[in-house]
Amino acid sequence: MKRKNDDFLRPRGKSLLTIVVGGFYGDEGKGKIVGCLATKRQYDYVVRAGGGPQAGHTVTDGKKVTQIPSGFIAPDAKLLIGRGTVINPDVVLREIETYGVGGRIGIDYGCTIIEGPKHIEQERELVERIGSVGTGTGPARVDRLLRKAKIAKDIKALRPYLVDVAAEVNRAINLDKRILVEGVQGYCLSLLNYKFYPYVTSQDTTASQFAVDVGIGPMAIDEVVVVYKAYVSRVGPGPMRFEWAKEQRDARGTEERGTVSGRLRRLGDFDKNLAKESLSRNTGTHAAITCIDRLFKGNAGVKEFDQLTKEAKDFIEKLNTLFKKASKYYRGIAAISTGPNLEDTILLV
Ligand code: GTP
Ligand code: MG
Repeated sequence: MKRKNDDFLRPRGKSLLTIVVGGFYGDEGKGKIVGCLATKRQYDYVVRAGGGPQAGHTVTDGKKVTQIPSGFIAPDAKLLIGRGTVINPDVVLREIETYGVGGRIGIDYGCTIIEGPKHIEQERELVERIGSVGTGTGPARVDRLLRKAKIAKDIKALRPYLVDVAAEVNRAINLDKRILVEGVQGYCLSLLNYKFYPYVTSQDTTASQFAVDVGIGPMAIDEVVVVYKAYVSRVGPGPMRFEWAKEQRDARGTEERGTVSGRLRRLGDFDKNLAKESLSRNTGTHAAITCIDRLFKGNAGVKEFDQLTKEAKDFIEKLNTLFKKASKYYRGIAAISTGPNLEDTILLV
């Protein structure tokens, strides 16, 4: 029988898979952007990729998470934690209880486990040398590399939640579901990035790594949203261009502290070259810009692009032009954040 090409080539399904990543040093406000996308775009699944309890996100109204997905804020979303995330069982169980998500969360059998005081103690040297947060994530990954770490399936207390996240995610893709993958930290903290090493984290922090962390291949990715703060912030030591002196920080009234560490963050001007680079290395399809209200007065809580001040509009237009030049995959600005809560957002997708 003669077959036509069409018999073999089928159109792509209707599933949507979006990965959210940080474009600078982490803490760009990914938690809030994920919360906003998860609620407004109604994803069926929100999947946490990478990091460990050192990666804190503030979603809205002061609601903070370090282990469960920031997308918990969308009440109907199924929540998953991929195998690339390092788990402290006490912390994850506490967050599951605090936010009452026990009935809709799955943790991968293969997640690496932080063993209490041992791994935290082992990280002390790194805390002093490169400013690690000190939650034991790095040492747990070292043990994984040496094939002696415990994994989630060894921990009795996690048993009610254990699933094969890769299997769930791929099944969901085949069923045309909508999936939001939330990355952690930011481009400049990638372990393998030679420009920032050794002031980096214990894994790569770009979209490709987060795909591995949840068990999917590159062809499953439809969108990569790179999140940028309107200025740069960094919680630890290491290279950072255009850093503000104390007087500049005070003049702007933009003091910030780390979500997990509580340390005062270093702040600086938006770094255009760095932003172009991180968009390109993530093959970003969209950018999201946060804390516009903190950089330009008069924009707090704005919900329509037209209502932004001219200064803020110009800033965003220029970034959009810059990103178009950085990558042929770039399609546009997905969201502009004008305040800490979910409703303070101009959502453009
Ligand atoms: P990720 O680690 O990227 O998820 O970021 P984070 O949640 O750690 O963000 P960060 O701690 O840097 O955010 C600092 C605070 O700013 C948090 O309390 C957020 O709720 C808040 N925030 C997020 N977006 C905005 C915004 O657009 N404007 C203002 N004023 N605050 C924001
Ligand atoms: Mg953070």
